[in-house]
Amino acid sequence: MAYHWQSSQQKQSGVEDMTLLPKISEASIVENLKKRFMDDWIYTYIGPVLVSVNPFKQLKYFTDKEVEIYQGAASYENPPHIYALADNMYRNMMIDFENQCVIISGESGAGKTVAAKYIMAYIAKVSGGGGRVQHVKDIIIQSNPLLEAFGNAKTVRNNNSSRFGKYMEIQFSRGGEPDGGKISNFLLEKSRVVSQNQGERNFHIFYQLLAGSNGTQKGSQIPTHILDILNSMGLTEPNYYYYLNQSGVYKVDDMNDSKEFQDTVNAMKVIGISDDDQASVLLCVAGILHLGNISFREDGNYAQVDNAEFLQYPSYLFGIDQDDLMTKLTSRVMDSKWGGKSEIINLKLNTEQAAYTRDALSKAIHSRIFDFLVESINQAMQKDKEEINIGVLDIYGFEIFQRNGFEQFCINFVNEKLQQIFIELTLKAEQEEYINEGIKWKPIDYFNNKIVCDLIESKNPVGVMCVLDDVCATLHTVTEGADSKFLQKLNGAVGTHQHYQGAKEGFIVHHYAGKVSYDVEGFCDKNRDVLFTDLIQLMQSSDLEFVRDLFPEDVKGQQKGRPSTAGNKIKTQANRLVGKLMQSTPHYIRCIKPNETKRAHDWEEKRVLHQVEYLGLKENIRVRRAGFAYRREFDKFLKRYAILTEETWPQWRGDVRAGITHIMNAVHMEKDQWQLGKTKIFIKAPESLFLLEEQRERKYDTYARVIQKAFRKHNADKYYLRLKQQASDILLHQKERRRYSLNRNFVGDYIGMDDNPGLRALLGRRERVEFADTVNKYDRRFKVTKRDLIVTGKCLYLVGREIVKKGPEKGQMKEVVKRKIELGSIESVTMSTLQDDLFLLNIAGDYASLLESIFKTEFVTVLSKKYEATVSRKLKVSFSNVFEFAVKKEGWGGGGTRQVKFLTGNSDLATMKTSGKTLNVAIGPGLARDSRPGLRQTAHKGGARNGAATWNKGGGPRRAAPAIPQQQTNTPGRSVGSRGRSGKSLRRQQSTEHPSLPRDGAQHLAKRINQAHAHNQDFMSTPDAGMSGFQRKSLKPGARRPAQLVESQDQRQNHSPNYHRLEQYGIMIQMTQMNFMSVPTISLKLSVKIPQDGGEEDLEARKACFHPTMWRKYKPTISSSREAAIDETQES
Ligand SMILES: Nc1ncnc2c1ncn2[C@@H]1O[C@H](COP(=O)(O)OP(=O)(O)OP(=O)(O)O)[C@@H](O)[C@H]1O
Ligand SMILES: [Mg+2]
Repeated sequence: MAYHWQSSQQKQSGVEDMTLLPKISEASIVENLKKRFMDDWIYTYIGPVLVSVNPFKQLKYFTDKEVEIYQGAASYENPPHIYALADNMYRNMMIDFENQCVIISGESGAGKTVAAKYIMAYIAKVSGGGGRVQHVKDIIIQSNPLLEAFGNAKTVRNNNSSRFGKYMEIQFSRGGEPDGGKISNFLLEKSRVVSQNQGERNFHIFYQLLAGSNGTQKGSQIPTHILDILNSMGLTEPNYYYYLNQSGVYKVDDMNDSKEFQDTVNAMKVIGISDDDQASVLLCVAGILHLGNISFREDGNYAQVDNAEFLQYPSYLFGIDQDDLMTKLTSRVMDSKWGGKSEIINLKLNTEQAAYTRDALSKAIHSRIFDFLVESINQAMQKDKEEINIGVLDIYGFEIFQRNGFEQFCINFVNEKLQQIFIELTLKAEQEEYINEGIKWKPIDYFNNKIVCDLIESKNPVGVMCVLDDVCATLHTVTEGADSKFLQKLNGAVGTHQHYQGAKEGFIVHHYAGKVSYDVEGFCDKNRDVLFTDLIQLMQSSDLEFVRDLFPEDVKGQQKGRPSTAGNKIKTQANRLVGKLMQSTPHYIRCIKPNETKRAHDWEEKRVLHQVEYLGLKENIRVRRAGFAYRREFDKFLKRYAILTEETWPQWRGDVRAGITHIMNAVHMEKDQWQLGKTKIFIKAPESLFLLEEQRERKYDTYARVIQKAFRKHNADKYYLRLKQQASDILLHQKERRRYSLNRNFVGDYIGMDDNPGLRALLGRRERVEFADTVNKYDRRFKVTKRDLIVTGKCLYLVGREIVKKGPEKGQMKEVVKRKIELGSIESVTMSTLQDDLFLLNIAGDYASLLESIFKTEFVTVLSKKYEATVSRKLKVSFSNVFEFAVKKEGWGGGGTRQVKFLTGNSDLATMKTSGKTLNVAIGPGLARDSRPGLRQTAHKGGARNGAATWNKGGGPRRAAPAIPQQQTNTPGRSVGSRGRSGKSLRRQQSTEHPSLPRDGAQHLAKRINQAHAHNQDFMSTPDAGMSGFQRKSLKPGARRPAQLVESQDQRQNHSPNYHRLEQYGIMIQMTQMNFMSVPTISLKLSVKIPQDGGEEDLEARKACFHPTMWRKYKPTISSSREAAIDETQES
């Protein structure tokens, strides 16, 4: 029985699919979500869209049991779940062989990253695969902690906030095995490396490294190649480092940095990053921390390094010269053009410029390490030929901080674009499609945020990014005043835009998700995003290959045209992403954040309402209710369901529309459930589609059974043929054979155990019957009684019949086990050398059984095979024409021994004569003892399926492993000349060589900055919805009507205003019993009462047919034949 809330009596909270809400308003959506959230149901559907509310606690329905029940199940069989969505994607991909993608959206801390991880884990669990596939799965899973270490950070909104966007494509083979993958990453918020807002942290990796070096003693699982270098990195408390001590936060609740450090290192290993590169990555992370501690003082308008001691560690860790580092931080070589002449000048920097240069270098190193990690992951998952994929999009969520800079602007822009996709595909395109296809439809209004996207990215008329690029193009090195110039130009260009507002130090954008005020300071610099050539050259001079590889630019090569700006990059990336998503079948998860306290069961009504509004959930429900759940091109639909009728299978030769109509009529699909458009068929309710699917699966099931049966028979034939060969081997040269038995086929079960439940019940539950026959048993007086002889993998049974003497079954004949012999206690089997059918079972320490069966050869063969498999010894089979054996001690005269003597006679039938304690058996000569059956050789498949053995390479690093590291002889003050000697290898930094740590670090700086912070928490409150909210609110509510009510084009022109009031009236749910395709189905009929000028009109709004047979969990039939195939391999 399927697991379903209806069958398992689970408490229902609200409605599981909000298209069934009796009243559609934002308030009722919020109420429904709240009810479910409070009862720990975080998932709710709007048709195929999954709404997910962050529970801020671990819920219990993410175990293997759920993976099992959601696998292959239809969405209505189980409560809404992210596994159902993941399963749907996976199955869609396999059925249609089309790429799928899931767009996970929601604001910062709403649960996008957690959702993405659940999807990846589910797909890894349900998809099969051998060595290579398992390796890819490991990489997919392990890429998460690694990229999170370098790309996630604690913000005031989320303790594990993604500070980059990620689109992970899981690539599959035709068989549905994930055998490759690709990550595209978007704009890492690198400014975080050098500064963080109050209450926030830098990227996790910095704290992990420090905690990891602290926790190296007890039970640490850090590998030695990392342990070796941790002591040489100058690691101490986080408040020592300027890049960490600005925000006053070092720890995150429920986050164990030391443990996560181990996970990060382990992830690098799984991904296949070499030991040396792993060490290099961490040396660079430490290097960035030390670089941040270099401070500057004014010396005659120019910057001087405040304390040269602080230069030692960075130069040591990056493998660069200390003096070079100092020079490059305090001056810059410029190419100056003057009067047609080009001249190189050395420009001295002031303290701000020097600090800016230092920070630019730190940001560049961190973001390049991040790119290196993404590249390493991609290399390890790369496959030659891409087939199909599932893409998982998890980006940084929409966010508002106290101070919002260029990064927030980009992050919010990407979110704006995603909202646009959602609108395009679920609200706009859907409605347009109905109109294009000639399906009767009345448009539903919604707020389209394209206007905000255009404000940001449009070229004509110019948008914010264009203005910014223009200002940046006119700048050279000097950036002072650039930001205010940008603001001034911006106000001139877009000042009158409805979604734009000038502000004191910046500008306000009325985003779809609320008003955000941006501070223009730093916009120009961050947008230009150029790394000075001096710094690139400095890093290229490193004696560490890893560091040099991070900076591969050809600095001498001439730059052509305008350099690409960060804004331009994110714009291009976002549009490329949109293009990619549009080519896949999209699925949506709309994440909602219930509070800012991060506490379970805390519900901030206003905040949720705001999200429900801007996510457009109400409009989503309306379109969904009025629309069609499913649509398909005619030919694809016909191909898929052709199997349902004889006329369409295997091919329909007539008009495609007629073919579809034929199928729909054949399955008695109700007329109001489907419409034919111009190129596609539209099906109204998902349940109607499920019915078609169910019918199709049944047909396939029937065919699968036929194939399976044939396959099993083929397997059995092969098995018994082998048995026959083995049988003749046992008897060869030992026993004469009967003429007709030699080439007889082996069958195994001569009783028909499957049809004999009484007999079956006597055996153990999991015991498989290997041989069963009715035999003659000879007692101590050589009197014959019939017995059922049954051999299983464990025991041998002799079953007789007895009349029940007592109880309700008194007087009835019943099967009784007369003798049960464990295979291990069989000592031997004795047979004569003649063609008779007698054999003696000799049991260790017990009496023997004298039996007779015409299938004795098959019996002995099966017994030998099972005996050897169970006891791990060969069964002793002896041949003698005199049997001497002990009989059962039973009653008066029991016990003692008996004899059977065999003599050659004349007849093929044995003649038996008893003489006292001896039975004399005479039988005519049979076939010669060396007779063999006429065997066909069975082909052996052994070894052919050893596909996994060919896999071994997988996650190799992209570069050849460096040579064995040499001892580091350079000290911080070493000469430039000594650099080249360590060549390409990573130096193992050892504690004796590393510089000493300058005292105090950058603590003095921390104080100054902390004090400067204002403690304004206004930005944490629910955002002002701004113009977007106003425009949303001023939309007329669109009509949501059933298909039956759809008006003609003419009617649409002057439709009754009453339709708009539809949602003010409740929906009546009525259960009716009806007959559908002669299988009883329960129809859920929703009727809507709408007042019509005083009167009332009953309208059937929606029908949902629940087919009882569909409640069971459906297992794809294909797996049955696959199981059969596996059986076969195991046999051979
Ligand atoms: N399904 C869930 N079960 C339990 N806890 C959850 C779940 N979803 C989210 N959380 C909690 O909320 C936190 C924030 O979630 P997550 O990091 O996924 O947010 P996000 O939407 O990715 O935010 P950002 O845009 O900042 O990256 C998680 O670290 C976790 O503690
Ligand atoms: Mg995230």
